[in-house]
Amino acid sequence: TILIVDFGSQVTQLIARRVREAGVYSEIVPFQSAEEGFRRLNPKAVILSGSPASTTEENSPRAPEIIFSSGIPVLGICYGQQTMCAQLGGKIEGGLHREFGRAFLEVQKSSPLFDGIWAEGTRHQVWMSHGDRVTALPKGFEIIAASPGAPFAAIADEARRFYGVQFHPEVVHTPDGAKLISNFVHRIAGLKGDWTMAAFREQAIGEIRAKVGDARVICGLSGGVDSSVAAILIHEAIGDQLTCIFVDHGLLRMGEAEQVVGMFRDHYNIPLVHVQAQDLFIGALEGEMDPEVKRKTIGRLFIETFEAEAKKIGGADFLAQGTLYPDVIESVSFTGGPSVTIKSHHNVGGLPERMNMKLVEPLRELFKDEVRELGRELGLPEQFVGRHPFPGPGLAIRCPGGITREKLEILRQADAIYLDEIRKAGLYDAIWQAFAVLLPVQTVGVMGDGRTYEFVCALRAVTSVDGMTADFYAFDMEFLGNAATRIINEVKGINRVVYDVTSKPPGTIEWE
Ligand code: XMP
Repeated sequence: TILIVDFGSQVTQLIARRVREAGVYSEIVPFQSAEEGFRRLNPKAVILSGSPASTTEENSPRAPEIIFSSGIPVLGICYGQQTMCAQLGGKIEGGLHREFGRAFLEVQKSSPLFDGIWAEGTRHQVWMSHGDRVTALPKGFEIIAASPGAPFAAIADEARRFYGVQFHPEVVHTPDGAKLISNFVHRIAGLKGDWTMAAFREQAIGEIRAKVGDARVICGLSGGVDSSVAAILIHEAIGDQLTCIFVDHGLLRMGEAEQVVGMFRDHYNIPLVHVQAQDLFIGALEGEMDPEVKRKTIGRLFIETFEAEAKKIGGADFLAQGTLYPDVIESVSFTGGPSVTIKSHHNVGGLPERMNMKLVEPLRELFKDEVRELGRELGLPEQFVGRHPFPGPGLAIRCPGGITREKLEILRQADAIYLDEIRKAGLYDAIWQAFAVLLPVQTVGVMGDGRTYEFVCALRAVTSVDGMTADFYAFDMEFLGNAATRIINEVKGINRVVYDVTSKPPGTIEWE
């Protein structure tokens, strides 16, 4: 294991990913509990993350001393480098030479950190983002690379295996960064890259069996990748001790409910209860215009329905959830302060306490792309594993204003055509999310010789890395024209199509 001490950088998770890509398991621990994490994990190496803080400020965060005295290799990145220097007797100064973005450094000396990538005297592009910089090195350290703004861009104490870099090797804008991290992991820390999904699968199955024993488990299936992979993995571990509950709220896309039931019941032979709750949900939502009320109604009904169904099954001690690593990592916050609710997210949070059940969360240690990898390992079809995210409240939040069954059906048809066109054009995987929205607006058109007065359909497609920020996807006009023509020709009820060119921020991905 490699321990990553998080000082609150925006990109700490990327460090963990790069280490795992090198085939070594890593865990992120906030600096406040780093000492406890160190003792618990007994890591073979430590990486110190960047931070918005400055070591020149009073009470800025520090790495626990035990890390430096334990004899294992340490890599400090940006703030991590600075605090390592400050703690070991070097000097840091507030930046007169702030550097943000692309920079070029020159390699001064060869090092195992640069093995196979950077030779002495060569120049390389890296990504910098810092105000402070190291100005005097602790004893034992030497410079191994320098940039115009950071004379101590990379430093090493080869004897103690302590390394520091001012740039960010974990981001893609440092093209050789992943190799540099892999050098630290393999060559310097001497770890073998044997953490694979096949190994994870075996290990997880053993853990699920040990935890659950012969108790019964229920799992809420949404049709999304996370809950599906969790269910299949758990079923592999404990067979028919698992029952899945699929609450069909009538807000799914075309053919989706049939797909979920077909795959789990018929293909994987997993006991599945298909709860037909369409009338309940749509009845409760009809006439409701307020997006937050819509979201909250769906969340509440989901929990009530799920709970009632679980009671009917009876006797289950465990609830399975597809919780992922990013939901688990305690975030390091410097600002405190309450954040505003933009949207109430619908998930099953709160269910376990309410139902007094224990949790099985076999994906807690994985990132989204690792879950996809595990899905492939478990034999899920590629089309399913690579699916775009779909929100819990489903089509209800893609029908701004009040929903009706008719509107949902119109939206389903338009959405299916749009996605069909995207797949045919080979663009599906280049897009984070694409969907149609049915606007509560009717406009006048002319079809054949007649006047029409029908709904407007908006098309949305965005690129994103994590859904937190997003950019609209720049289709060419011919693609959009074709998609619009097909939708208007084939879907009764739509006579106009528009394309949404809003980024996030200021827009959000979904319309409600
Ligand atoms: P927004 O619209 O906030 O969406 O930009 C960001 C991402 O989150 C998804 N989303 C949800 N996912 N329950 C979910 O599970 C929800 O209530 C929910 N609302 C939005 C959205 O599709 C996008 O991927």
